[in-house]
Amino acid sequence: MNTIAPAVLSRHRVTKRPITPNLSAMPIQFGKVGTNDTLQIAPSATFAAKELAGQLANSGQTVHDCTVGQPNIPAPQSFLDAVVKRVNHAFKFSKYAAANGQPELRSQVANFVSQTYGTPIDPDQVLITHGSKQGLADLFRAVDGDILIPDIAWVSYEEQIKLAGKPILPVPTEFTNGHFPTPEALEETYHHAKEFGKNPQVLLLNTINNPTGAMPNQAKVDALVAKAKELDLGIISDQAYELLVTHPPNIVAQHPEETIITSSLTKGFARQGDSIGWVITPNTDGGKALYKKMKQLSSQDTVSGAVPIQRLATEWFDNPENKAHQAIVRRFYAARTQAFYNVLAKDGTDTPSLAENTIQPAAPYIWLDFSPQRAQLQAKGITNSDELMSHLGKQYGIVGVPGGKFVPGGSQAVDPPLTLRLSLFQLDLGSNKEADERFTAFSQAATEGKEADDGALITPDTSPELFKVAQTLRQFKKDLG
Ligand SMILES: Cc1ncc(COP(=O)(O)O)c(C=O)c1O
Repeated sequence: MNTIAPAVLSRHRVTKRPITPNLSAMPIQFGKVGTNDTLQIAPSATFAAKELAGQLANSGQTVHDCTVGQPNIPAPQSFLDAVVKRVNHAFKFSKYAAANGQPELRSQVANFVSQTYGTPIDPDQVLITHGSKQGLADLFRAVDGDILIPDIAWVSYEEQIKLAGKPILPVPTEFTNGHFPTPEALEETYHHAKEFGKNPQVLLLNTINNPTGAMPNQAKVDALVAKAKELDLGIISDQAYELLVTHPPNIVAQHPEETIITSSLTKGFARQGDSIGWVITPNTDGGKALYKKMKQLSSQDTVSGAVPIQRLATEWFDNPENKAHQAIVRRFYAARTQAFYNVLAKDGTDTPSLAENTIQPAAPYIWLDFSPQRAQLQAKGITNSDELMSHLGKQYGIVGVPGGKFVPGGSQAVDPPLTLRLSLFQLDLGSNKEADERFTAFSQAATEGKEADDGALITPDTSPELFKVAQTLRQFKKDLG
């Protein structure tokens, strides 16, 4: 450690004539500012893909942006009216937030999680973070031991775990199991990691999954959690997409002493710009120690974020109309995703979300695997998912995220993945005006029960871009032969 001994400090203190630099005599120096080359970090693959979509659009090309998982749904008016009052109050005097988050919001989150999962959560278990991304980054640093992550998984886990100075321990998954780890694969990877001198102590799960959009049923989740318990593993349950379904998988009730939850307002509440996330640690001695460490970390960096925004977030939980609003948001995304699948399914395109009836689509992401077309793609000079994405973007105007970015250590694969993830969140909803009009039209029709089935409200008329992208993908497959 580079600590300075007190004796050295005191020697400086008795220096009689402090040396003041003669500024005018100092040469102006350039080139001292540079980067720390030992810090290896890749940019977020989703943000990089979004930039590519922007570049293609700027060059005059029509682009369907299927990159970022960004729900662009207008907030209900009742919420906006209430927020004005709350936020006005928070602006009159501006104070630092508490390092673990404002007590009112922590209580609301504790209530929400207790009610959703039927497991009592105390507000003292809840930490407010700057989005769950920052919560996860801090958690990977603060938690004891090495972390097992599913292979495939959200793009940022790998970089964040590397930044925490920990090894990546990927648990293999299969397309046919919706890319959800099996207990057998978990056990095998656990022992393998131990043989290699690693210290696996935590399993990360993202049950409503990015990138597949799929959700395993509770029996599959229970079997995996039972295996984690048997191996004495803790669980980090990334529940970022929990509000997109009525009954999200429940991990905390199965393993309350060893489950850490992370989530946020982003996906289910459509509030990504507010950057309100939370981490919930177990109500055990270990959990309390972890909470303390997380709070210390927060006190050294984000201090839990902005007070006015935390007040606004409290309003989300308080506002009675919000539950009805969220139910419509869920129906909206579910109907759109199903409509997209229906077009693809016409020529037999398979996706993990439909792999078995124990796995179902739950988030508006589409995961496509073109490895059966490897030879045809190779003939076009496409050998990996980056090239696949660039080809689709330039020739067909569809920009998503290369699937290889979701494979921990994917660049070392013998057969590079030919997968891609498409986010449907923003299709037809890219601009605020579009989003306002289309969501409001769906909301009114769905509330009035105009059609017996929500699917009938999602048509090429109401959702032209969604259908266009699905049809274009079919054309792409046809062109491959
Ligand atoms: C699986 C998963 N976890 C966490 C996050 C972080 O989201 P936020 O920081 O907005 O809470 C994302 C964002 O896309 C995600 O896909």
